[in-house]
Amino acid sequence: MSTGENDLATIVGPCALDMRLVTPDDAEYIHALRTDPAFNTHLSAVGGGVEAQRTWIEDYKHREKAGSQFYFIIETKSGQRCGLVRIYDITKDNFTWGSWILDRNKPPKAALESAFLIYLFAFEKLGLRRATFEVMRENKRTLAFHHRFGAHKTGEDETNFYFEYDAADFESCKDGFLKTLSPPPPAANDYLSQNPHLVIEDGVTIDHSVVFAPSDGPKTLVRKDAHIGAGAVIGVDLEIGWGANILPGAVVLSSVPANAVASGNPAKIIGYTTEVASENKTLVRSGPLNSRREAEIVPLNVGGAALYEMPMVIDMRGNLTVGEFEDSFPFPPKRYFAVFDVPSEKLRGEHAHYNCHQFLICLSGSCKALIDDGKSRLEVTLDSPDVGLYMPPLIWGTQYQYSRDAVLLVFASHGYDGDDYIRDYDSFRMLTSDE
Ligand SMILES: CC(C)(COP(=O)(O)OP(=O)(O)OC[C@H]1O[C@@H](n2cnc3c(N)ncnc32)[C@H](O)[C@@H]1OP(=O)(O)O)[C@@H](O)C(=O)NCCC(=O)NCCS
Repeated sequence: MSTGENDLATIVGPCALDMRLVTPDDAEYIHALRTDPAFNTHLSAVGGGVEAQRTWIEDYKHREKAGSQFYFIIETKSGQRCGLVRIYDITKDNFTWGSWILDRNKPPKAALESAFLIYLFAFEKLGLRRATFEVMRENKRTLAFHHRFGAHKTGEDETNFYFEYDAADFESCKDGFLKTLSPPPPAANDYLSQNPHLVIEDGVTIDHSVVFAPSDGPKTLVRKDAHIGAGAVIGVDLEIGWGANILPGAVVLSSVPANAVASGNPAKIIGYTTEVASENKTLVRSGPLNSRREAEIVPLNVGGAALYEMPMVIDMRGNLTVGEFEDSFPFPPKRYFAVFDVPSEKLRGEHAHYNCHQFLICLSGSCKALIDDGKSRLEVTLDSPDVGLYMPPLIWGTQYQYSRDAVLLVFASHGYDGDDYIRDYDSFRMLTSDE
């Protein structure tokens, strides 16, 4: 069988390995493996030294050219040799394979991937139909491998067991093997080496096939503990905030705040990651409005924050809710402001205060409020004029997903003071950490 040389020179594996045809320069490596007692117990002995091996390879190269034998070096994707394997006795439909060794540099699943590549090569590149091979009776490890791979035992004698594995077997298992061999997510370092403008902080996880837009100027910063899902595209000159979660396939064209979950093209914030018990993750007040004579306070276990269900009078002429600053309020306000006409994709807040207390009531429509004390986070839906969210100082607050008709009224314990704001999430985490 004659085959195009270049076409067969390298067989690219789906995970950690490739195979390439041996050259005379591999003689020393092959000789060392074939004479290493850790690997050669169940293989036929090789005679002679390295030079004899070189001569053997030179001679073999003629058989390779004629398509009657293929001897491969198994190597890692970074080009480090980690084994050998050979296909021989090739007839019209059949072949056998052997001389299979994986050395101490083999990556995880190397046996599976190299066997997969041998069959891929023989069945799909050479168009052969069946492998027949033998394994020595005492070679328990290799026997177990072939058994697990799905080879059929066809016979045995005093020395060997005999097996078959055909193209249809491979075809039916191929997808399963590919799944098992799916590449590990590239380490952040791989992305760093390809994208010099990237800054990736500790604890970041990045799945495979993420694209960082190239840049020779502006930096892209991925903050601590952020996660970027498979296939996401990340623009330049932006920041993926601390603990943010970019969902697979998102196209991120602007900065994503700390702990936000972003999805879509262009990516929008669809929520926030929360670390509290799941039943508390989202508080939505549902059901009909109730009359209430006194404020009821629901602690939220996030840095002293609480929901206040304010006094409420249900009346046919129109309902009324009220708060007495001295009796039913957590602090005496000095200031109020109202937020309205917020485009739904916009975020507000995203800061904490050193001293100022705040009380948020969504008088009309709804919005989501995320509160974070540096250890726990909770998302609260504010959708009723009788519910107030109390945020003491040192709570990182973000409000988002405003409905079109949302009007958020905020009472503050202090007059405006720019120096009272903590606008950087890192500084906030440092201030609230126990260390
Ligand atoms: C034969 C040889 C190449 C097999 O390699 P191996 O690494 O020992 O093979 P294993 O059966 O332990 O399997 C290796 C890996 O593939 C995985 N694997 C094997 N079959 C698998 C299957 N069907 N599905 C999923 N995973 C499988 C194993 O779990 C193991 O994973 P890990 O590396 O992450 O632990 C090796 O033992 C060797 O060099 N032996 C000396 C020479 C020899 O005897 N050659 C055979 C002559 S016929």
